Amino acid sequence: MIDTITDLQALRRHILEWRRAGLRIGFVPTMGNLHAGHYSLVELARAHADRVISSVFVNPTQFGPSEDFTRYPRTPEADTSGLEAAGCDALWLPTVEGMYPFGIDLASNIRLPGVADVLEGVHRPGHFDGVCTVVARLFNQVQPDVAAFGKKDFQQLAVIAQMVTDLAYPLELLRGEIVRESDGLAMSSRNQYLSPAERSTATVIHRTLRGMRDEMLAGTARLVVEARAGVELAEAGFEVDYTAVRTPDLVEPSAAPQVYAAPGRRVALIAARLGRTRLIDNIEFELP
Ligand code: PAJ
Repeated sequence: MIDTITDLQALRRHILEWRRAGLRIGFVPTMGNLHAGHYSLVELARAHADRVISSVFVNPTQFGPSEDFTRYPRTPEADTSGLEAAGCDALWLPTVEGMYPFGIDLASNIRLPGVADVLEGVHRPGHFDGVCTVVARLFNQVQPDVAAFGKKDFQQLAVIAQMVTDLAYPLELLRGEIVRESDGLAMSSRNQYLSPAERSTATVIHRTLRGMRDEMLAGTARLVVEARAGVELAEAGFEVDYTAVRTPDLVEPSAAPQVYAAPGRRVALIAARLGRTRLIDNIEFELP
C-alpha cells in the first residue's frame, strides 16, 4: 500500500525512518492528473533509489493570473492508485497553507535570472519563480538523494538544474525522456482541454519539431528554420508563442549564424496555443 502523507511532521518522520535504515530516497514532484509520462519518472527514480516518494501539489504561484490554475484537472483517486501501480512508496500531498505558511504574498521567492527569463519566461512572466519557489520547498521537505524531472519541460529542467547547483542542494537530478501518444503528441495533463478537432491538429507540433530538426541537419539557417516552423503552425490554426532552435543551455542565440551551424547538441522548442490550450514540446538532436 502506498502511504499518503498530508502533514509535514508525518513526512519528516517517514523520511527519518528511511534515512535511519540507510535507504536512498528518490523524489518525483508533480501537479497530479498523472499519466504515463509521470509514471515513467517514478520508474526512473525507482532505478536510482531504494524508496520513491512523489508529490501532488497544484502550485498556485506558478500560474499567471489569466492561466488555468482553477480549472487544472484534479484527479486524486486515480493518481493514488496509479502511483501505487507504478511502484511509488509514498505520496506527499501538501496543502497551500502548509506550503506557504505566511501566505503567498509573504512567501520567500526564488528567482533565477538568465535561463528563467528566455522562451517560457518571456511568455509566462513569473512562472519559473513560482516553479523554483515550490521546488526549493519540496526539496527541503523531502530531502531526496535523487529527483526526477521530464524533458517534456526542457526549460524547467534547465532552470531547476541551475537552482540545484547555485543553491548547493545535495541531490542528483534525473532526466526522463518525453513520453508520447502513439501519434506523437507529448503526453500532458492539458491535452484533455482539447476538443476532438484540436486534438487531431495538436499532432502538428511534433511533426513540425521533427521538420525543424531535419532542416537543421540539412544545413538550413536557424532563423529560416524557426520562421518556417512558425508559418506551418499558424497555417494549421495555432497561435504561436515561439519556435526556437537553441543549444541545450538555452542562452539567447548569438547573432553570428555560424555558431548555430557548429557541431554539437541542439534542441528545437515550440510553444503554441490551440484555442484556450497552450502546448509545449521539444526535440533534441546533434549537429555533426
Ligand atoms: P507536472 O506538469 O505535473 O509535471 C511533473 C513532471 O512530469 C515534470 O518533471 C514534467 O516534465 C514531467 N512530465 C510531464 N509530461 C511528461 C511527458 N509526456 N513525458 C515525460 N515527462 C513528463 O512540471 C510540473 O508538474 C511542475 O512545474 C512541478 C515541477 C511539479 C512544480 O510544481
